[in-house]
Amino acid sequence: MSSTTEGARATHATLTIPGSNKTAELPLLNGTLGPQVADIRKLQAQTGIFTFDPGYGETASCESKITYIDGDEGVLLYRGYPIDQLAEKSTFLEVAHLLLYGELPTAAEFESFNRGVTMHTMLHEQVRRFFDGFRRDAHPMAVLCGVVGALSAFYPESVNVNDAREREISAFRLIAKIPTITAWAHKYSTGQPFMYPRNDLSYAENFLYMINAVPPEPYRKNPILERAMDRILILHADHEQNASTSTVRLAGSTGANPFACIAAGIAALWGPAHGGANEAVLKMLGEIGHKDNIPAFIAEVKDKNSHTKLMGFGHRVYKNFDPRAKIMQQTCHEVLGELGIKHEPLLELAMELEKIALDDDYFVSRKLYPNVDFYSGIILKAMGFPTTMFTPLFALARTTGWISQWMEMIADPSQRIGRPRQLYTGAPRRDYVSIDQRG
Ligand code: ACO
Repeated sequence: MSSTTEGARATHATLTIPGSNKTAELPLLNGTLGPQVADIRKLQAQTGIFTFDPGYGETASCESKITYIDGDEGVLLYRGYPIDQLAEKSTFLEVAHLLLYGELPTAAEFESFNRGVTMHTMLHEQVRRFFDGFRRDAHPMAVLCGVVGALSAFYPESVNVNDAREREISAFRLIAKIPTITAWAHKYSTGQPFMYPRNDLSYAENFLYMINAVPPEPYRKNPILERAMDRILILHADHEQNASTSTVRLAGSTGANPFACIAAGIAALWGPAHGGANEAVLKMLGEIGHKDNIPAFIAEVKDKNSHTKLMGFGHRVYKNFDPRAKIMQQTCHEVLGELGIKHEPLLELAMELEKIALDDDYFVSRKLYPNVDFYSGIILKAMGFPTTMFTPLFALARTTGWISQWMEMIADPSQRIGRPRQLYTGAPRRDYVSIDQRG
């Protein structure tokens, strides 16, 4: 493969297939940030070959203006703004506006956006009845998947994905209703009455209210916990083309309605290699039990035959500290301080585990660092959430990112149905043999 340059940067790469007279001129595309990207759209037409990239680690599946990650430097930007600045200074709904529309809102824009979202926080009363159909011990992710997908039955006009106003209303509905669905999934599992949303509260506070409040008691706000919740939501709001976002885009590329697409994203998020990791971290810490058991656990992780992973460590893109993990660790200390928890064995165990892993050549040589999930579970546990609610909380926050990515995709004139190819390694063509002649 060779390249043509213009100024400092190459403009084309040329791929030559040895032994044939076929070459492909691959334009090199430049983003605002990040490495150049070889455009292989004409590769097959020019050479007859196509590419093999299981897990798509080397493939840009779309053009996007929403989120940028520099995995080597540990940088995460939403629409250009560093995640630490947003986590410190912004609010979740402001970030939602930023992700959806590309800019932080003016005061007037925020007021209108806030009103636009909050007027959709209630669920149709028929939706409320769905919950009764689930077993009490149903995993809340199963409930979220089912209820969010079912919303399309209540908003049939949402199938008009080519209508910009319908798309926007669907986005508002999803961002507004997902806290209500998530909180009710929790209430259902505990047997407590569902609390209806309160539009006088902030997005994060309203969610905490629907989770924690009970009708006979006055609800007491806690600004520190509200801030922590808001920050957790901001940190999880978007993360470019990860597995669940790519799932939303793939489903959306067929023209499926947004509620169905977000339900697909929730399903993809559920797995322990993705959003399920925060739940898996607490399970892992519980199994390790004591810091004396860390060396044996680390030895098991390093044993190729064990299939045990250090959950909350490693990332497909970050080969440095996940910037969200640092903010999570700080938030964790703040929340425990506010709650008066001076001694949290799980946090102490996690910090010791992190220290040992960051000193171990196995993790250092593979550039495995703590990711966002390493500390989030400890905070959520301290805030009173059961472990099964950790991944639903992630889904709640990520709904804003998913729907922003979906909106961007639908409006992109170059978008077409997502349809990967394969390297076929099955049987070559053969003829059918009748059953009496097989054996
Ligand atoms: N513990 C132990 N070893 C690990 C870990 C880990 N957590 N993560 C990666 N490795 C090892 C792999 O075994 C592999 O080793 P090898 O080169 O000897 O074969 C090497 O590091 C490279 O790892 P890959 O599996 O190729 O990395 P990939 O990019 O495919 O996977 C993933 C990324 C899925 C996140 C992985 O690191 C993992 O499973 N981590 C634990 C689960 C987790 O925390 N997920 C949350 C991710 S963040 C999020 O979704 C919000």
